[in-house]
Amino acid sequence: MLVEIERILPGGVGLAHGEGKTIFVSLAVTGDRVRVKIDREQGNLMFASIVEVVEPGPDRIEPPCPYFGRCGGCDFQQLTYQAQLNAKADIIKDCLQRIAKLDIPAVTVIPSPTPWRYRGRATWQLDPDLQTVGYYERGSRRVCDVADCAVLAPRLQTTLEQVRNSDPPKELKHLEVVSGDDFVSLAPAFAVFQTNEVTLRVAGESYHYNAESFFQINQELLPELLKYALSEAEGETALDLYSGVGLFTVPLARRFKRVTSVESNRTASRFAEKNLQDAKLENVNVVTATVAEWIRSFANNKQVDFVLLDPPRAGAESAVINGILNLQPSKICYVSCDPATLARDLKKLVAGGFSIERLCAFDMFPQTHHVETVVHLIRSQIPDPRSQISH
Ligand SMILES: C[S@@+](CC[C@H](N)C(=O)[O-])C[C@H]1O[C@@H](n2cnc3c(N)ncnc32)[C@H](O)[C@@H]1O
Repeated sequence: MLVEIERILPGGVGLAHGEGKTIFVSLAVTGDRVRVKIDREQGNLMFASIVEVVEPGPDRIEPPCPYFGRCGGCDFQQLTYQAQLNAKADIIKDCLQRIAKLDIPAVTVIPSPTPWRYRGRATWQLDPDLQTVGYYERGSRRVCDVADCAVLAPRLQTTLEQVRNSDPPKELKHLEVVSGDDFVSLAPAFAVFQTNEVTLRVAGESYHYNAESFFQINQELLPELLKYALSEAEGETALDLYSGVGLFTVPLARRFKRVTSVESNRTASRFAEKNLQDAKLENVNVVTATVAEWIRSFANNKQVDFVLLDPPRAGAESAVINGILNLQPSKICYVSCDPATLARDLKKLVAGGFSIERLCAFDMFPQTHHVETVVHLIRSQIPDPRSQISH
């Protein structure tokens, strides 16, 4: 079937129409005229892949990576870098408009200082029978054998080569890897790879962590992200929810009298304690719990000035949004890696009396459709109790 790509949708696929149906075309570019094959149908929707680019859209380029298309890691290499940034701005606007009914006139996406060789964290898949190491192939659980990954930071690329040249234990199917300033941590650690802790300096602070705890992928863009998220954050009391190893907790502890950080991964919260101790900050209560559990028990009469939340892709649970609404902080900063769940949660926060003050996106994940969005909200009204979302 011959179709024309109308635009790029959240999820990174191209939108087209044909035979009276809506067609989602992977690895597409706006303005492409492409011959597609239908991989799957679901009601009025078709999922397709490109067989031939008949006429390329204006922003189409030759993907530089030889694994592109087969490897499931990247899905935006066919776009110029500027077109990737534009598509991400449109994806955020689309989600906010469609899901949250919020009209944002313009979204700025801050580019990554390095659109290639930026990834400081990765998950590698291993197939011991075929002796392959790399990423899952697109839409499958087969391992795409990758010798050189063009988005890996140089230190991780070297580690990938070392892992490929080593003799990993047969039972090893997945490897988590993360880079610091000088070393790399692997989970599980094996053979020569025994470093179980790395250190990275970001915006004047030192962070210790390992591959079992979360750390942001694009380390070079972190100073700008932190600056934007924490600008104008000051007062008596702050909460850092989904706090990891304390990337935001440490600078928050310098700006607020009291901070509480909440994180469910014990390894990560132990590192947060260590990072605060090294920074000689004693005004933080580090809680190891799920945010939903903790916020239910957190006293409602406590005065909170600032809440920063940085949940995983699934967004914040209803109980967490309701808990934040009950606390009525003056300001909220929502850091999100998924525009769709962000929009769902913003809708509830706006219904609960907050308004969006400003918003900026950061291209933490070049060559993929993923994007990080930071939204500042301020308390604008006493909420209508009927707007609280029950669950
Ligand atoms: C996107 S990361 C952000 C971490 C940290 N803010 C940072 O920038 O490094 C989300 C974090 O939330 C943690 N997490 C996931 N689900 C959680 C939950 N229900 N309650 C508390 N923490 C959770 C994960 O372990 C992870 O550390």
